[in-house]
Parts: sequence; structure tokens; C-alpha cells
Amino acid sequence: MSKDKVDIFDTTLRDGEQVPGCKLDAEQKLVIAERLDHLGVDIIEAGFPISSPGDFNSVTEIAKLVKNATVCGLTRAVRKDIEVAADALKPAKRPRIHTGIGTSDSHIKHKFNSTRENIIERAVAAVSYAKTFVEDVEFYAEDAGRTDNEFLAKVCEAVVKAGATVLNIPDTTGYCLPEEYGAKMKYLKENVKGIHKATLSCHCHNDLGLATANSIAGVVNGARQIECTINGIGERAGNTSLEEVVMILRQHPSLGLDTNINSQLLYDTSQMVSQKMGMVVQPNKAIVGANAFAHSSGIHQDGVIKNRETYEIIDPADVGVNESSIVLTARSGRAALAYRAKLVGYELTKLQLDEVYQEFLKFADSKKEILDNDIHAIIDATKLNIESVS
Ligand code: KIV
Ligand code: ZN
Repeated sequence: MSKDKVDIFDTTLRDGEQVPGCKLDAEQKLVIAERLDHLGVDIIEAGFPISSPGDFNSVTEIAKLVKNATVCGLTRAVRKDIEVAADALKPAKRPRIHTGIGTSDSHIKHKFNSTRENIIERAVAAVSYAKTFVEDVEFYAEDAGRTDNEFLAKVCEAVVKAGATVLNIPDTTGYCLPEEYGAKMKYLKENVKGIHKATLSCHCHNDLGLATANSIAGVVNGARQIECTINGIGERAGNTSLEEVVMILRQHPSLGLDTNINSQLLYDTSQMVSQKMGMVVQPNKAIVGANAFAHSSGIHQDGVIKNRETYEIIDPADVGVNESSIVLTARSGRAALAYRAKLVGYELTKLQLDEVYQEFLKFADSKKEILDNDIHAIIDATKLNIESVS
């Protein structure tokens, strides 16, 4: 079955970099941008050019460097922002201006002290102005997650008429449930005149841990772009995690959707971003966490040693992880101990294994994890005189 392509819009360098303490210098941004291009992302949001001279320069340097991806710069619905972004993006082969405004009643009242009619006028003016600089203009309806669908459809229709090529529907506060976010996309697909001229985009935040689920609900209901970051970093609880959405679409071919991402580069890219931003990846993070392919309970270890697929749905090699790991703890069984002992050179008979296992449990109760060196010490402690062949 041929699959529909979902564009991956990476915002690690913009929404991701907004995280306190994760600021990158220009050189680090360039290295990450080059890696993202190599990874196969379709769009790199390189920054918010008007926000600082440093960000302006980074966007320009990234625009010069990137060979394949579209390079995008963020703006508010403000003429000066748009002019500065257009200037920063000049060297890009494929430039995109990302402009927008808050559309929820909360934003209209508290941020803009304005009216729905005025917001539509400002949105249209911003898109029309951006179109005088570049062909590719993405419009974001900030806080679309809490925007009334009927009004959101009116805004979308107006900006598509003004030339928007992509409609970003951000769940800015991470409020939506997957059914709700999916239904919002479906509503827009069915009710916005001219919608076939634009791509709907998911931009979800993770305040309730639903960013990935919401993005998937979005593409199942017609969106064809997902905005995401490496390791899911971003404001507050973060953005949709790139590696998660990519692997969900790969692991579920029945959805009929796929991306251009070279998944074998995911683990290295995650490590690179983590190191450059000084932001550790939580060990239990899906796909790229240190424990994502580590097995520590005896029952699971026994299964994985017999056949990896008993407890793993992804081949670690598919995401660039060398192999699954069998972690030895006090919860491990004989199968895991024999397996790890063999890796460090001991071929144990059944009787030897019984004795080594008793010694292992004593060690394991006093240590969180048994490492290769501990295995040598455990075998020595049994006085069985077993030689390592490695
Ligand atoms: O979360 C959000 O609404 C955003 C927009 C600026 C696109 O990041
Ligand atoms: Zn955001």
C-alpha cells in the first residue's frame, strides 16, 4: 500500500531552545541544523529572527548551510517581525515565514484586548504581507486548542484566501484530548473553503503528556505536517517528540502514513541534542532513553533471550541503538545471568549456574546493578575455579 507522506517540521532550534538553560550558541545551532537536514526533516524552524541579533544571525547562517530542508523563521503578526524574518531568510533555498496570532477568546481578550473581527483582519494582513517576500507562508492560530472551531475555521478560510500554504493548529497549552484535537482537524478539513490549497499542521505541547497522542490523532484526521522537537524538549512540559511520532507511523503501517526520516540516526541525534543543550534524556524516554531497550526483570529477560520480539516492538538497530541490553539486578533470573556471564567469557554448566546464581543474589541485594566486573568477582567468590575464555 502506498503511504501518504507526513512532513516533519522540526522546531528544536526555536520552541525547543526556549527552554531555560538550553540556550545554544550559533556554532552549536549550525551543527544541529546540519544533522536535522541529514536526518531527513522537511522543515527546520531555525529561530525567531526579530527576537535578538544572535537569533537573526543564526537563522541566516542556517539558511546558507541547509541543503535540503525548508528553513523557516517565526514572527508575530507584526510587519517589522515579517520584514526582519524575510531578511534573515534571504540566503535560504526554500524559505518559509511562519506568522500568526492568538485566536482563542482568552488570547483575544487578555493578550490583545481586541475582537474576533480584528484578529481576522490582523491575521490576513500578516499573511498577505509575508507573501510579498516569500511564496511559502505558514500561519499559526496560537491557542487553537482552546479556540472555538467555528471561529477557527473562519480564520483559516481567510488566511488561505490570503495565500497561506500551511495552517498550523497549535495546542499551545497542551489542553486537548486526542479525540478533541483529531475532531478539530476533521472539522477544519470539512468546513474551511479552499482547504485543499493548504497543509494542516499539528503543533502540540505536552502539559498533560498528550502531545504525541494528539499529533497522531491530528494526522489520522487529515493533517499532513507534525511540528516536533528532538527528545520532545520545549516550553514547560515540552513539545511533541520527533522520534516518537516517526516511530509510531513506522510501527503502524495500517495508518498508511510515513515520513522521510532516516530512523537509524534517531539515537545519535537525540544524544547530540542532549549534550549540546545540557539537558539529560530521561532514562525511560520512549525510543531514545537509556532504558528503552533494557530488560531487567527475570521474566522479561528470559523472553528476550529466547526471542527479542517477546518484549520489544522495535528492533533497536532501526533507531540506531546497537542492541537490547540485559541488565542484571536482584530481579534477574538464571537465564539472564548465564547470558551475561557468557558475554564476559564464562560458559556455565547447569550445576555451576545454580551455585553462581546464589552468590549473584547476595551481591545483587547490596547493589543496584551488577556490572561485568562484578560477574568476575561473583564467580571468584564461588571458589569453583571457572576460567573465563575471553
Ligand atoms: O505553541 C505555540 O502556539 C507556538 C506558536 C508560536 C507556533 O509555538
Ligand atoms: Zn509551541
